[in-house]
Amino acid sequence: MNKSTVLITGALTGIGRATAFAFAAEGHNIVVSGRSLEAGQQLAAELRRQGVDTEFLLADVTDEAQVETLIGNTIRRFGRIDVAVNNAGAEGELGPITGQSVANYRATFDTNVLGVLLSLKYELAAMQTQGSGSIINLSSIAGQVGMAGASVYVASKHAVEGLTKAAALEVAAAGIRVNAVAPGPVETAMLERFTGGNADAKAGMLAMMPAKRGAQPEEIAQTIVFLASDKALYLTGQSIAVDGGYTAQ
Ligand SMILES: NC(=O)c1ccc[n+]([C@@H]2O[C@H](COP(=O)([O-])OP(=O)(O)OC[C@H]3O[C@@H](n4cnc5c(N)ncnc54)[C@H](O)[C@@H]3O)[C@@H](O)[C@H]2O)c1
Repeated sequence: MNKSTVLITGALTGIGRATAFAFAAEGHNIVVSGRSLEAGQQLAAELRRQGVDTEFLLADVTDEAQVETLIGNTIRRFGRIDVAVNNAGAEGELGPITGQSVANYRATFDTNVLGVLLSLKYELAAMQTQGSGSIINLSSIAGQVGMAGASVYVASKHAVEGLTKAAALEVAAAGIRVNAVAPGPVETAMLERFTGGNADAKAGMLAMMPAKRGAQPEEIAQTIVFLASDKALYLTGQSIAVDGGYTAQ
């Protein structure tokens, strides 16, 4: 891949952060985005020390005006967006359906579904003007199979898979690709929250994985870098499970 401009939402922690460093290792311009100015500026400074041109831009992906401004400022700063990684996501409140609330549904869908929809809306408009681009949405194995006790998160990630396919079909002829990555459990703060900070619950979840371990965020980042690259030019509308074999069962 030639030197590109890469935008990552929710980039301050976990998979987003690892993805920023993976693209930085290839020398690309990076826009990291998130909701904390201080943490964002720190991350941008770390990335600049790797020798890449980096900007932190504040944005909550549930707010349309902020997403529009994020894309506009990325274009003003770097002239284009070659790669967008729609990574911002939240697991919401876990538990049985009988205990679910409207508030949790709205908050989780606002982040995971509306956030990806709004990001796609402005990213695709910019990429259509350029006539090129590659987008990677963060789905989950919860976007491909059911998971007891995580119904709202599961439904939201299934929606991300649907958005990925529909968006890919809208822009395939324009030279723009849209794919998803569907990780199994990844060693980030989200996995700790998912398992309630309980070491036994986490060990039990990881024991269910054919690979008998969780992924490191860098392993997800490498698949994202591949999907963004010129090595995947005929690959669009797909969701790649990076799950140690879980969904192959
Ligand atoms: N960790 C896992 O096991 C796992 C598995 C499958 C999929 N995922 C997905 O990967 C993505 C990254 O998760 P992670 O594991 O790095 O967890 P994480 O909690 O470290 O990262 C999520 C990031 O998104 C940000 N975010 C949340 N809501 C936002 C909003 N409205 N606007 C902007 N940023 C917002 C958070 O502040 C955080 O930095 C998520 O979409 C998640 O659903 C994670």
